[in-house]
Amino acid sequence: METPVLDVKKLKTSFFTDDGLLTVVNDVDFHVNAGEVLGIVGESGCGKSVTSLSIMGLVPALTSKVEGEILFKGENLAAANEKRMRQVRGNEIGMIFQEPMTSLNPLFTIGSQLIEAIRIHNKKVSKKQAKVQAIDMLKKVGLPRADELIDEYPHQLSGGMRQRVMIAMAMICHPEILIADEPTTALDVTIQAQILELMKSLNKETDTAIIMITHDLGVVAEVCQRIIVMYAGKVVEEGNVSDIFKNPKHPYTIGLIQSVPDMREKKDRLFSIRGNVPKPGSLPIGCQFAPRCDHAHEKCLKEAPDLKALSSGQKVRCWLYTEEKEQII
Ligand SMILES: Nc1ncnc2c1ncn2[C@@H]1O[C@H](COP(=O)(O)OP(=O)(O)O)[C@@H](O)[C@H]1O
Ligand SMILES: [Mg+2]
Repeated sequence: METPVLDVKKLKTSFFTDDGLLTVVNDVDFHVNAGEVLGIVGESGCGKSVTSLSIMGLVPALTSKVEGEILFKGENLAAANEKRMRQVRGNEIGMIFQEPMTSLNPLFTIGSQLIEAIRIHNKKVSKKQAKVQAIDMLKKVGLPRADELIDEYPHQLSGGMRQRVMIAMAMICHPEILIADEPTTALDVTIQAQILELMKSLNKETDTAIIMITHDLGVVAEVCQRIIVMYAGKVVEEGNVSDIFKNPKHPYTIGLIQSVPDMREKKDRLFSIRGNVPKPGSLPIGCQFAPRCDHAHEKCLKEAPDLKALSSGQKVRCWLYTEEKEQII
């Protein structure tokens, strides 16, 4: 049995709002093994970003509540103080976001930001040594003319180059996990493919586990080994990428896969799942996907299903699958 580097148990994140306490991540269980690439997929608003912010201790402390356990190599980060979380962030768990401009400081050169990141985490490194490491890292993420780039400002770079700098920033302290939240969503398709290629090769070279958060199943197919599918704050399916693409179980997963544009088939209109993700304040009782589901029956509208393990190794949260019946759709 592999030991997970991250083991999230019954994670529940709620926000205190004008409309009362809104739970946006509910009972989320998943793990990430060392060196593995795990995908978290689901439409916008399903709680993917809040899940990752909860792991990093970045949900606003005064207006939110995080329950459950976030076990990082056995240590429960949900109970860690801010001082400890500052060590974890960047050093032990790195993170990159969709829009690199929000995490890069426009007033400082690329080099000074990388050098600072190195020296915050290891005070013994001299400025000169840190500069050498920074240039090395820029080369590693495939940036040309790294020794000039180090003196440039974020706005002088293209979007794809900025995202490479962000990856360099996140990887420079050799984190054990890299959380990438829609890292390629803002980029055009060619650049997106290059960034994914880069992340795959960094994962292989450094053995850093990656949590790839995306609404795009194409991204998942490209880089992940295992995925969890989230819907309305819950995990509705979990399994190996190949199993899920070949044989998706949850009607939501099936819908997501059918919505992926297929270049080989020319269709006039692309399939899309009818309806919308429910807002956290107005979740239906019963199965949260039932109002959008073509297979919903009476029970689905009344009772919420649990996540069940199937003999195939996949897990699914759906009343269509019971102990006796595992293959319905
Ligand atoms: N600070 C907040 N206060 C209240 N609600 C929030 C806050 N942050 C996110 N939400 C809500 O939580 C839900 C999940 O959001 P998010 O995790 O960003 O979704 P995703 O990343 O899957 O698109 C959304 O309905 C969003 O409006
Ligand atoms: Mg998000």
